[in-house]
Amino acid sequence: MKKILKRIGIVLGSLIELLLIAGVVLYLMGQARMNKVYTVEPSNLTLPTDAESIEYGRHRAETLCQGCHGADLSGVENWFTAPPIGRIDSANLTSGEGGLGADFTTEDYVRAIRHGIDQEGKPIFMVAVPATAQLSDEDLASIIAYLKTIPPVDHVVQERYFTPLSYIMFAVGMLGDMPAEVVSHDAHVTAPERGVSAEYGEYMVNTNDCRVCHGPNLNGGKSPDPTATWISPNLTPGGELAFWTEDEFINTLRTGITPSGHQLNDNMPWKDYRNFYDDELKAIWLYLQSLPKLEQYTE
Ligand code: HEC
Ligand code: HEC
Repeated sequence: MKKILKRIGIVLGSLIELLLIAGVVLYLMGQARMNKVYTVEPSNLTLPTDAESIEYGRHRAETLCQGCHGADLSGVENWFTAPPIGRIDSANLTSGEGGLGADFTTEDYVRAIRHGIDQEGKPIFMVAVPATAQLSDEDLASIIAYLKTIPPVDHVVQERYFTPLSYIMFAVGMLGDMPAEVVSHDAHVTAPERGVSAEYGEYMVNTNDCRVCHGPNLNGGKSPDPTATWISPNLTPGGELAFWTEDEFINTLRTGITPSGHQLNDNMPWKDYRNFYDDELKAIWLYLQSLPKLEQYTE
């Protein structure tokens, strides 16, 4: 009896040892990925100075950046927080205390918005980067030019914090990929001419984060938040939108209420999108209607 117990003890002991070793290896792998330094050549953008371009930059920031960085762009505390994983505040984009505006160069903005990396070349956890990386040079330059004009707001946000467990979760793929790992680090991006065309609608869908939530093929997708469980609806003609008119689509994005009277919840950022221009919404509508009819994504 004693012998058997001893043997079980030895087996258990070595199992625990193996698990510990595996944990340490995974921890180191996750840490290496999350702290990898990327060397990219950020495009050398020339910032516009005319009022029209800066107003366009304001418009894009209002519809695309404010949802996560706050109405005054001074950052949102606990933008992501889950005690077993960690905590991320979104950055204060102004030049006030705690803001990065005062010492960010144009290249630093390009690194963050197009490449998903910080001043040191390390990945940032801004889930919108796969979308913002596709902004054309001209549009990105307008946004940066606008950011340089916003009033300073004193708001000290905290450095992001990750638990040791999160490194292991990263290594085994439970937290998805980091934007810097998935975006193409190509230097120049162009946009189709602005207007009511399906082509421009596609550009708007790509540069706003529709695909981050509605999936790469827009037939619905999993929440980008690993702690949430919702699946978003199908935006192709295989979904409810097949029965909507253009007016109803525009009305839904402006009011958050669908033609069938359903109030969209806050996971869908319609409060930001309601500020899209009519022509932008019409272009998005044309593009969505031109998509192949796909079935609703399920897990
Ligand atoms: C889906 C939410 C989301 C959207 C949309 C978003 N951001 Fe962010 N952004 C974040 C979060 C969260 C961080 C902090 C990331 C971190 O600390 O790793 C961040 C960080 C940044 C940083 C700091 C990068 C650094 O070096 O630390 C800049 C600059 C930035 N965002 C600019 C923008 C601009 C400009 C837009 C609009 C074009 C935008 N963001 C849209 C969530 C968002
Ligand atoms: C952060 C995640 C997120 C992003 C980004 C997002 N959506 Fe949504 N969207 C959702 C969720 C979740 C719902 C379902 C909400 C509900 O039913 O209460 C939804 C619902 C919708 C609906 C209603 C569909 C229906 O069948 O009722 C439309 C239309 C829509 N989104 C369009 C868009 C467009 C266009 C974009 C990009 C400009 C976009 N969404 C970006 C999460 C998102």
